[in-house]
Amino acid sequence: MEELKSEIDKRLTFAIISHPDAGKTTITEKLLLFGKAIHAAGAVKSHRNERKTTSDFMEMEKQRGISVSTSVMGFDWKGRKVNLLDTPGHADFSEDTYRTLTAVDSTLMVIDSVKGVEERTRKLCEICRMRRTPIVTYINKLDRDGKDPIELMDEVETELNVKITPMSWPVGQGKAFKGVYSLYEKRLILFNPHGTQEDDDVVEIDDLYSELLDRHAGSEAAKLREEIELINEVYPAFDREQYLSGHITPVFFGSAINNFGVRELLDCLVDIAPPPKVHETEERTVKAEEDKFSGFVFKIHANLDPKHRDRIAFLRICSGRFEKNKQYLHVRSGKPFKTSNPTAFMAQDRNVIDYAYPGDIIGLHDTGTFKIGDTLTEGEKIKFKGIPSFAPQIFRTVINLDPMKSKQFNKGLEQLAEEGVVQLFTKKYTKERLLGVVGMLQLDVIKYRLEHEYKASCRFDNSSFTTACWIKCKDKKVIDKFISQHSSKIAEDVRGELVFLASNKWMLERTLEEFPEVRYYFTSDFD
Ligand code: G4P
Repeated sequence: MEELKSEIDKRLTFAIISHPDAGKTTITEKLLLFGKAIHAAGAVKSHRNERKTTSDFMEMEKQRGISVSTSVMGFDWKGRKVNLLDTPGHADFSEDTYRTLTAVDSTLMVIDSVKGVEERTRKLCEICRMRRTPIVTYINKLDRDGKDPIELMDEVETELNVKITPMSWPVGQGKAFKGVYSLYEKRLILFNPHGTQEDDDVVEIDDLYSELLDRHAGSEAAKLREEIELINEVYPAFDREQYLSGHITPVFFGSAINNFGVRELLDCLVDIAPPPKVHETEERTVKAEEDKFSGFVFKIHANLDPKHRDRIAFLRICSGRFEKNKQYLHVRSGKPFKTSNPTAFMAQDRNVIDYAYPGDIIGLHDTGTFKIGDTLTEGEKIKFKGIPSFAPQIFRTVINLDPMKSKQFNKGLEQLAEEGVVQLFTKKYTKERLLGVVGMLQLDVIKYRLEHEYKASCRFDNSSFTTACWIKCKDKKVIDKFISQHSSKIAEDVRGELVFLASNKWMLERTLEEFPEVRYYFTSDFD
């Protein structure tokens, strides 16, 4: 199918990973401005105190200034259809970010040149490496007096355990920042801090020893020549295969707030970033160009529009062409699924689409059909792998404060757990509800959303549990014995899978040692 192949080759689906404050929002905004997906600066984020955002859906976000939700933004650039998936920067929502990384084919890593490699960057980069997701690096805030570029490169290489190839090199830094020399395009791009980057700020310089360089870079020219010579000796030339296999990250320098170096970055991304890749299912490998449609749900968002109490399931298309009004198979339930209004995203703007292709993310209106990780196909019974939940370390018993609202309370908890905001465990015998979270902020979100969306109020009580694992056993007698001996510590997750809770890791391991037949897992992605 020619059409399918050419649509696949056009797609570029990526996410930006960074530590909060490195400049993710600023870059997102510049990319969207280039792609004409927004028309004014400040549309993604205006001032701290009066954030009116395109990419942030929730009231929470405006109040707290933390990106809680993940959104999808589509735009076209130089013949490629770019899908940019936003990820929450705050560590408490890391599960949301990990799931989003399962739905992209590459990432852009943003590093603050003043702070260097930070904790969140390290974690997210590790996830990308595990999944062999190609990473392009953008070192931001060159207009500030940051760390030395060579030092930054060393830091990226050693701390993130990934080889690098510089694609551009800064000319000066901080107050002396004059621009960047693009090693990829062999030209000098001059920094003009008072406005947006203009075409005449670019000087083609094929020969670094031409006097053109002296004319434009002044006293920085000699240093630049020396540094480029050094770079050419030390770092390997850009090798796309190495990048695509996740072994090398090409590095750019710039200043996002000044819209500097972002256009070069985007030009290069559309050149080198991979089209939709293969996806593993429990049964087989699925290739994008297969003619039958398949996809998986990596995120569920409830009540996007306060006027309609709807849920939206975010589906990543992995193979074939998705069509509106066609009947598909919802593999987990075995039931047919059909939609007349699948949507493409531009954050809060949603357009109904007729077709979507591998790499695209579409929104499906949902009345409770979907859970995270669900697969849709044209009939084949497969299940996509690698969309795990991690055993949480913070547990709270959640108490309903208004008995008249217990229906809303239960519904709210279940829906929010299905969205992946928290993990919900129901004790097997007492039916007590326990919430498991990575960070305390998730509890604030639950409380806020229960109140605002479900009109239910709650309280959290401390729990003696600090660890948990999923348990499985083929022998029913053994698992029944385990359950009866430890009944107060057995719960079920939202999928009905058994979970064993413990007050500490030592207790957990000791108990499980007594039952060698019981297999246990710290992520929900079982073998
Ligand atoms: P994030 O989404 O990764 O958290 O970062 P964000 O883009 O919000 O940027 C964090 C801060 O860094 C913002 O300043 C932003 O203006 C600033 N920034 C981004 N890029 C650059 C750059 O190239 N140079 C310099 N000097 N600063 C940059 P803020 O004062 O915290 O917020 P705001 O009041 O500007 O919104």
